[in-house]
Amino acid sequence: MSYQLLKGKRGIIFGALNPGSIAWKVAERAFEEGAVFTLTNTAVALRMGETSRLAEKLKCAVIEADATAMDDLHNLFIKSMEVLGGKIDFILHSIGMSPNVRKGRHYSDLDYHLFDKTLDISAISFHKMLQTARKMDAINEWGSVVALSYVAAQRTFYGYNDMADAKALLESIARSFGYIYGREKKVRINTVSQSPTTTTAGSGIKGFDRLLDFSERMSPLGNATADECAGYCITLFSDLTRKVTMQNLFHDGGFSSMGMSMRALQQYEKGMDDPFDKTRSQADEHFYD
Ligand SMILES: NC(=O)c1ccc[n+]([C@@H]2O[C@H](COP(=O)([O-])OP(=O)(O)OC[C@H]3O[C@@H](n4cnc5c(N)ncnc54)[C@H](O)[C@@H]3O)[C@@H](O)[C@H]2O)c1
Repeated sequence: MSYQLLKGKRGIIFGALNPGSIAWKVAERAFEEGAVFTLTNTAVALRMGETSRLAEKLKCAVIEADATAMDDLHNLFIKSMEVLGGKIDFILHSIGMSPNVRKGRHYSDLDYHLFDKTLDISAISFHKMLQTARKMDAINEWGSVVALSYVAAQRTFYGYNDMADAKALLESIARSFGYIYGREKKVRINTVSQSPTTTTAGSGIKGFDRLLDFSERMSPLGNATADECAGYCITLFSDLTRKVTMQNLFHDGGFSSMGMSMRALQQYEKGMDDPFDKTRSQADEHFYD
């Protein structure tokens, strides 16, 4: 059902790689709600992914940009404003990638060159995007910018590796830039902390299936899907949430407020007859993964 919540609004959506991507669902929903927008992703993603298929369906332009490259970002804002016919009202930053995770590096044995890349791609790109937009005065007053985060920014999650540090930085950038951009131009900046979701980025996390099951059992409302995340992002882009800024907003079915649920405990108890693999010793290199 459409409420035309974004009628007359112009946007930029980063990160729609394939139909599983959260950004893909946000684009579909923004279209239904009456917005016009451009889609953007890296050259490799545009070659390997399905972004152009989405653009055809939603009749929007695709503009190539590496979100870590300032020139690309400048060009993205210029072209988007040209194609859409004016300044931007909303932006979705839906970008995450850890080369350390990809290469199977343990958190206690990070490659620092790759760590820099994780932070640059997954968090500093958010600052670069905001800094570029502000210098170009590319966002309308009361515009709304949302980046996607995960609860591992606040609490330690097995296997999330250096992405946890990237998400903590991302959320901090939302607060720090939210103050400046809010005071100056009434632009609001938030992060949405989403449940684990089966996507290309999500499936890269170690033990992802078990994490998905655990958080489903822990959350009173169950895990939030990518479609539901899209719905929440639309409300944040709309005029109905004009005074919400500098927040990390949990969209996780209640997971982040739970300590232990009966459903998770029952599952844990089932495993008590056959506890930890006794052959495993604390000397195992990754015992504390
Ligand atoms: N899937 C989950 O479980 C989950 C949970 C919470 C938060 N998130 C976050 O949601 C966001 C979207 O991830 P997703 O799960 O939809 O996976 P996804 O793999 O579909 O999306 C990640 C996107 O980042 C893009 N990207 C990577 N490097 C880039 C760069 N240098 N410049 C521009 N784009 C780049 C990729 O091309 C891809 O489109 C990420 O920030 C992710 O951390 C995901």
